[in-house]
Amino acid sequence: MAAKTGLRLVISPGEIRAIVKRLAREIERDYADRTPVLVGVLKGSFVFLSDLARELSIPVEVDFIRTLCYGTRDVPSDEVCIMKDIEMDIEGRDVLIVEDIVDRGVTVNAVMEHLGKKNPATLRFCALLLKEGAGAFNIDYLGRTITGGFVVGYGMDYKERYRNLPGIYLIDTERGG
Ligand code: IMP
Ligand code: MG
Repeated sequence: MAAKTGLRLVISPGEIRAIVKRLAREIERDYADRTPVLVGVLKGSFVFLSDLARELSIPVEVDFIRTLCYGTRDVPSDEVCIMKDIEMDIEGRDVLIVEDIVDRGVTVNAVMEHLGKKNPATLRFCALLLKEGAGAFNIDYLGRTITGGFVVGYGMDYKERYRNLPGIYLIDTERGG
């Protein structure tokens, strides 16, 4: 896709494919002979989850959860509420949360706590990206760390745009919005 004003490529589609393949091999190894439930955190994870699921050679089931972060992107709040819960019964199941990017970590913590109450057999977390300097929390499967700034593409948005870009771009929110 042509370069866009205010966007700078940080991870190419080819690099994303390599990351997804590596994560899939790690997950297959750990979940051999099991059928995990992949829980995508909407909306940002929809592209990553669909690629990851198709790369996995083990059987998986898929569900989605949607969080809402109160406050705006400029003034983030630590309050996270569940806007849409999962629909499957995950009691006794192996659950793998699939997230696009971890920034302050409040979303991952809220989703882990929420799903943990449903008594899954195991509960793990997979994130494509982690912003450097983020808080302390456990990411079982991590794609890549990125340095500061706001990124878009591959499911991630700025004001609901750019989710369909095949690569991941740093956006100059002064110009790109
Ligand atoms: P948290 O600060 O880790 O709770 O991140 C909150 C949510 O904001 C994540 O689930 C992401 O989907 C989204 N988010 C955080 N940083 C970015 C970014 O740079 N681009 C797009 N979405 C982001
Ligand atoms: Mg997200």
